[in-house]
Amino acid sequence: MSNKLIIFDTTLRDGEQSPGASMTKDEKVRIAKVLEKMRVDVIEAGFAIASIGDFEAVKAVANSIKDSTICSLARALDKDIDRAGEALKGANSARIHTFIATSDIHMKMKLQMTPDQVVEQAVNAVKRARKYTDDVEFSPEDAGRSDEDFLCRIIEATIAAGATTINIPDTVGYNLPHQFGATINALIERVPNSDRAIFSAHCHNDLGLAVANSLSAVLNGARQVECTINGLGERAGNTALEEVVMAVRTRQDEFSCDTNIDTTHILSASRLVSSVTGFIVQPNKAIVGANAFAHEAGIHQDGVLKHRETYEIMRAEEVGWHANQLVLGKHSGRNAFKERLAELGVEFDSKDSLNDAFRRFKELADKKHEIFDEDLQALVSETQVVDSEHIKFVSLTVIAATGKKNTATVTLNIDGKEKSMTSETSGSVDATFNAINQLLNMQVNLQLYSVSNVTQGTDALGEVNVRLEHEGRIINGQGADTDIINASAKAYIHALNKVLAATDRAHPHQV
Ligand code: KIV
Ligand code: ZN
Repeated sequence: MSNKLIIFDTTLRDGEQSPGASMTKDEKVRIAKVLEKMRVDVIEAGFAIASIGDFEAVKAVANSIKDSTICSLARALDKDIDRAGEALKGANSARIHTFIATSDIHMKMKLQMTPDQVVEQAVNAVKRARKYTDDVEFSPEDAGRSDEDFLCRIIEATIAAGATTINIPDTVGYNLPHQFGATINALIERVPNSDRAIFSAHCHNDLGLAVANSLSAVLNGARQVECTINGLGERAGNTALEEVVMAVRTRQDEFSCDTNIDTTHILSASRLVSSVTGFIVQPNKAIVGANAFAHEAGIHQDGVLKHRETYEIMRAEEVGWHANQLVLGKHSGRNAFKERLAELGVEFDSKDSLNDAFRRFKELADKKHEIFDEDLQALVSETQVVDSEHIKFVSLTVIAATGKKNTATVTLNIDGKEKSMTSETSGSVDATFNAINQLLNMQVNLQLYSVSNVTQGTDALGEVNVRLEHEGRIINGQGADTDIINASAKAYIHALNKVLAATDRAHPHQV
């Protein structure tokens, strides 16, 4: 059995299915570049048939990444596979990932198909995908609740049809670690041609067991894990890439395989995904949470100072902590700025967008003397959304005094016309949002508002996240500024622009 564990990252596909986490084409390319630098083996860039935007995003990722295999999801339908094949044309190395549900409940209630029909459709899909690439992955959806004999039958048939990876999804996060590991072991033992494919685990986190189930699968012979940065994903999310990678790396005494991942990029990937999606990482999150390597209790600190390994099983540096050294300052030139951003995976498609970002950088450097990678990421996240916006933030004046009502005057550029509005309430943020609401008159419900600091110090950029609900759809917005009221206005406007741009897209679980 191979000692290489393949890391298949699905942040841009399954992660993006999380309500409110949708990403633009440019954001996907930026994240893909960091994943490539991290040496992720396979990047699932999207579900090409879902919408024109999804197709274009898969295509853009396929055209810009050279070292990782790029994958598109496709239901076991001709039209899905053709669309995936088309989107992946420019990839150096392309994979089509096709799937169909195999549990009794999904076959009867969702697909309304017999098991024989499901096997036939899966086999046809794999054969069709092989016309586009030799690298074809098949997933029996809801395998975690499927009959083992039926799984053996469909897996044998799809391997015979040309599938080179067999992915076992615990779609609803129902399995327990010993059970999921036993399933992987049984499938590898029982399927006669199992040696012709790599077995993979794809676990959801509904019971908080996605990482444990994935590791159990690896201990039982799986040689690919499907995961997302920060465990992003629908409901309780997917397997967290950083946790699986570090568990396998740290416990080499237990695992007979390892990944190729350059773990020093883990933290910057985590921060990028968090800032693009607005999904904040909880402080006590393993590996990438702010407290993951912080030792507060005196006794622990004493132990760590005397001998690090008394209380630490990993080095913070291994996953990118402490790497946020000062990178640029007020006197840095355009070239240094451009080069540093290229290292962070950001390239500008025109001179104008570079100039715009550089102007914002200079403005920021005037207010904040030390500029870190995280500041640059926040600044670029903002710059990249501006072009397509209907509503642009122009200015904000706030008058606040203890014991008095606060007044906010907001000026927006709405489809080319400048309009202003003043609102007075008890809080500055509330008055700002009220003024924006009066200018736009859009029917949205604010579900979440949160503020965090991008780096340390009172001159740090404040990052604001808002979550809106509009006609049943969840939309997140982010804004960063050294002034948190400005950041709040930008975040709210960012989300409102997304509401205006939202288009219908198919979900892979729809038939
Ligand atoms: O969870 C799941 O079943 C999936 C499949 C599409 C692989 O994401
Ligand atoms: Zn999934």
